[in-house]
Amino acid sequence: MAESWSSAGWDVHLDWSPASGRRGLADALRRAIRDGRLPAGTAVPSTRALAIDLGIARGTVTRVYADLTAEGYLRTTQGAPTRVAADSATRPPARDVAGPRAAPWVPAVRWDFYPGRPDLSSFPRAAWVSATRKVVAETPASSFDYGDERGPAALREALARYLARSRGVVADPERIVVCGGFNHALTALSRALHERGDLALAFEDPSLPQFRDTAARSRLHITGVPVDERGIMVSEIDSPAVVVTPAHQYPLGHTLAPERRRELARWASAGGLVIEDDYDGEFRLDRQPVGCVQALAPERIVYAGTASKTLAPALRIGWLVLPGALVEPVRAALADTGWRAPALSHLTLAELISSGAYDRHVRQRRTAYRNRRDRLLAALPDGFTPTGISAGLHLLLQVHGDEQEYLAAARKNSVAVDSLGRHWISDSDHPQGIVVGYGSPAEHAFGPALEALVRSLAGKS
Ligand SMILES: Cc1ncc(COP(=O)(O)O)c(C=O)c1O
Repeated sequence: MAESWSSAGWDVHLDWSPASGRRGLADALRRAIRDGRLPAGTAVPSTRALAIDLGIARGTVTRVYADLTAEGYLRTTQGAPTRVAADSATRPPARDVAGPRAAPWVPAVRWDFYPGRPDLSSFPRAAWVSATRKVVAETPASSFDYGDERGPAALREALARYLARSRGVVADPERIVVCGGFNHALTALSRALHERGDLALAFEDPSLPQFRDTAARSRLHITGVPVDERGIMVSEIDSPAVVVTPAHQYPLGHTLAPERRRELARWASAGGLVIEDDYDGEFRLDRQPVGCVQALAPERIVYAGTASKTLAPALRIGWLVLPGALVEPVRAALADTGWRAPALSHLTLAELISSGAYDRHVRQRRTAYRNRRDRLLAALPDGFTPTGISAGLHLLLQVHGDEQEYLAAARKNSVAVDSLGRHWISDSDHPQGIVVGYGSPAEHAFGPALEALVRSLAGKS
């Protein structure tokens, strides 16, 4: 196999003209790979060599290689030539057909604004690999044993420091339980609550239906609590426990107002249990981060966080900071389902947090998502009212008329968004809207994805 395109004499025809620019060059390379003219494993020329061959700027070639690497056509290894990736020849054409979606509920269309996921291509691969290498090389042999259901002490300690510093959580490592994401944490919590005789759980109305289903499967009766622009209406809570999203109400996007935070803490101190789902608290885009509510009543408020937005949903890592009385019941509920902490990925995350790489990544992603949010707001056609814009990876667009027509128009333009309608619990007449997750498109695809979204909205407004 050639080590270098030019020196080994590989002469591959690229159907490319300088006028077609960076996109044209990327297309030409994709075609050459798909047609088998550049078979798997072939070393492509260095960015310098190709730039000289084609008479273009080296930076252009570097960006094309980065895009094709993110799409899986190319594979880069430090200190070695960039190569055509192993399975790239059978990959469908990236610009013509949607790639397969791992999340089965996301429509398989070309432009992915379905909320709930970060930019998967931004996963800090190099930092994760180097943390993994360090952990595997240095951790004692006992780390490879069956471990504590709560997760390794090193991760619980790193999280306790991180959460206290970044979110104001009152966090004792002994009270932290690391689960397989928020959904898994809610499963364990719901079982523990049912076991101790709490038979109902309230959710904000609107909220994510899949979490309500999770709790219902643990035989909890689900009730809804209305939300206004100041957040959950605490006086309407009619269950012994409630799940809330104070930093960025999902899906409306409101921040819980200061007086409501105090009211919620008072409700908890008077005997209620609050589960604070801080799913995107790291991504406050405008003002100073809003601290967690948990610190107002740590013996009555469960704090829940996740790595699904900051790193990737595939990690399946989320954490609970529990009131003392719930630690053992939640640990026992996990043990009942056969759960053991996957210690190696947990130790890797601990290393990432302790080394500062996690903070750096979060800061970098915050800037990138703020930039996307600004571009989306600037491009919105008239007639849409965005809400929830000051945080997170999604916003809500309130629309006139039937939201289903907007979904259909998006679909026609090969754009995936979510409907507000499916989040309501009560049947009354609700506002219509679509939920737009601007975190999901890969960085290089954001521009064309935004154009397609705006086209679909403009056709409808
Ligand atoms: C409201 C809300 N909470 C929590 C999560 C995180 O879920 P998990 O940690 O199970 O991936 C999400 C992810 O989409 C979410 O939208």
